Amino acid sequence: MQALQVIERIVPDRLRQGARELADAVFVRRPPGRDVGRTPQPLNQDYETGRWDYLSNLEEMARYAVIDGYCRHNGSISSVLDLGCGSGILRQWLNSHEIIDYVGVDLSDYAIGIARRKWADPHTRFVAMDVASYTPDRKFDMIVFNEVLYYFPYPEDILMRFAAFLEKDGFFIISLWDSSDSRRAWQTARSNVDVIDSVQMRHRSGVSWNVRKCRPVGDTK
Ligand SMILES: C[S@@+](CC[C@H](N)C(=O)[O-])C[C@H]1O[C@@H](n2cnc3c(N)ncnc32)[C@H](O)[C@@H]1O
Repeated sequence: MQALQVIERIVPDRLRQGARELADAVFVRRPPGRDVGRTPQPLNQDYETGRWDYLSNLEEMARYAVIDGYCRHNGSISSVLDLGCGSGILRQWLNSHEIIDYVGVDLSDYAIGIARRKWADPHTRFVAMDVASYTPDRKFDMIVFNEVLYYFPYPEDILMRFAAFLEKDGFFIISLWDSSDSRRAWQTARSNVDVIDSVQMRHRSGVSWNVRKCRPVGDTK
């Protein structure tokens, strides 16, 4: 564990950061990169033991709502690729849009199993696969990285790869909670995207997020 992460663990300010901190304290935390060569088992275990249960809590609501808002404001989102979709919480938020094709991808087949049980409609597909090796079969209006980019040792490579699967005028949504892992991910990823808009939010528990609407740098589609 890096010194910065140790300091972040012990300073009292961090203790205010609600359920996320609690989850990290109770369950073993995997730094990004450790899952390289990634197998679903550790992530499945996270879901089975309830580590990710807090994702459905009220304090997480704001970032899903902002992503839904970007979708709504755009007016014409009909296809969404949700990378690291977990158990499909965002799919629920997007339910009021006329989405013709939603594809959620997650390495945890356990999470995908939950998502599939919730969503069995012809417009929704869930794929249990590593995002790093997943190749879409179409282009999308919106590609979402909702609290997943910090899992990748080279997030910039992931963004570059998926840039090819954006429709004309399509965009990325990148949500990152405020943590050292997220700052590292954004530091390397930011040179690959132009930020069109961003929202910073802070829950009363102390957890904060940046949700950014971006386009790949130099995208002239
Ligand atoms: C913090 S959770 C966020 C889940 C979901 N995006 C949400 O906000 O409700 C991170 C998710 O990323 C998934 N994940 C981590 N590494 C992944 C990878 N290499 N490929 C696909 N999914 C991955 C985990 O299984 C987990 O579901």
